Amino acid sequence: MTATLPLLEVRGLRTELPARHGALNVPLNVLDGVSFSLGRGRILGLVGESGSGKSATAFSIMGLLDPPARVAGGSIRFAGRELAGLPERELRRLRGNRIAMIFQDPMMTLNPVLTIGAQIVETVLAHARVGRAEARRRARDALGRVGVPGPEERLDAHPHELSGGLRQRVAIAIALLHEPDLIIADEPTTALDATIQAQILREIRGLVEGGRTAVLWITHDLSVAEQLSDEIAVMYAGRIVEQAPAGELLSRPAHPYTAGLLASLPRGPRGSRLTPIPGLPPTLSGRPAGCAFRPRCAAAAPACAADPPWRGRMDGRGGVRCLTPGPEGSR
Ligand SMILES: Nc1ncnc2c1ncn2[C@@H]1O[C@H](COP(=O)(O)OP(=O)(O)OP(=O)(O)O)[C@@H](O)[C@H]1O
Ligand SMILES: [Mg+2]
Repeated sequence: MTATLPLLEVRGLRTELPARHGALNVPLNVLDGVSFSLGRGRILGLVGESGSGKSATAFSIMGLLDPPARVAGGSIRFAGRELAGLPERELRRLRGNRIAMIFQDPMMTLNPVLTIGAQIVETVLAHARVGRAEARRRARDALGRVGVPGPEERLDAHPHELSGGLRQRVAIAIALLHEPDLIIADEPTTALDATIQAQILREIRGLVEGGRTAVLWITHDLSVAEQLSDEIAVMYAGRIVEQAPAGELLSRPAHPYTAGLLASLPRGPRGSRLTPIPGLPPTLSGRPAGCAFRPRCAAAAPACAADPPWRGRMDGRGGVRCLTPGPEGSR
């Protein structure tokens, strides 16, 4: 039954940051039991406020955490193989061909001393048996597909000669050319204008519809997540608090935090009043025990001081971590 195994399965992922508390060493939980799975041909959107642990999730999976942050527990299975604790050499090989990461900063992908063309042609040649001229033609087409104007001339430019937005499009083009099994994208389109962003989201969907590639797409922007994703997972204080099919999550949120996020965003034609969630997300060292959203939650009960259990959806497409979820929580 290997065909039904998810491509990526993250279970109880704990990532900690060592911290000194007086004379004591009390590690802080950056990620506190993150679990989700992702199948080929699917896109999972990961949303949440700043500091909720979205990037930490991506970097933990890729083995790219900045020390002293480290994966301290849980499991990350990719195509049936455990990535947690895999030697750096093996992780680097996976990042080179089966997993592509698109970062917020494109210079984490691009080499400053090589021309754009040299970098893309190298990627093409690593994946297809074609001559240099054909590789250059494919490189030019790849740039065109992510909305780079005048792609022929751009091939001869160095990264520093391009604007930040163009550099980002080049980095995305390179990731797509790898035809990876898994793409992990951390807010890559936030700085791009809406038309280009829409074009890139279409390219990503096109690739995923081929059925081989899976995408984990991190964004602040719920409308981007909605346009792109099959399912959306919402993070709060180092945990996934709700996951559901994209349309349902937005129309019938089960977790009070998801509902609060939606109410605080300008959405829909009615132009209804925006209601911000009262209070602020906790700092890493100030997260309350039990449900971390409790101090900001109108529905909080004394029982929320204990860890709420994860209630999975019947259809396996997510769940909610809340004792008093909205009407959809009991499905
Ligand atoms: N290597 C590190 N050193 C110090 N703090 C870290 C490190 N890694 C993560 N953190 C902390 O972990 C928490 C989660 O951070 P993370 O960057 O994952 O949030 P995020 O959801 O990606 O936020 P943003 O939307 O701002 O990108 C934050 O409190 C952050 O300060
Ligand atoms: Mg981040």
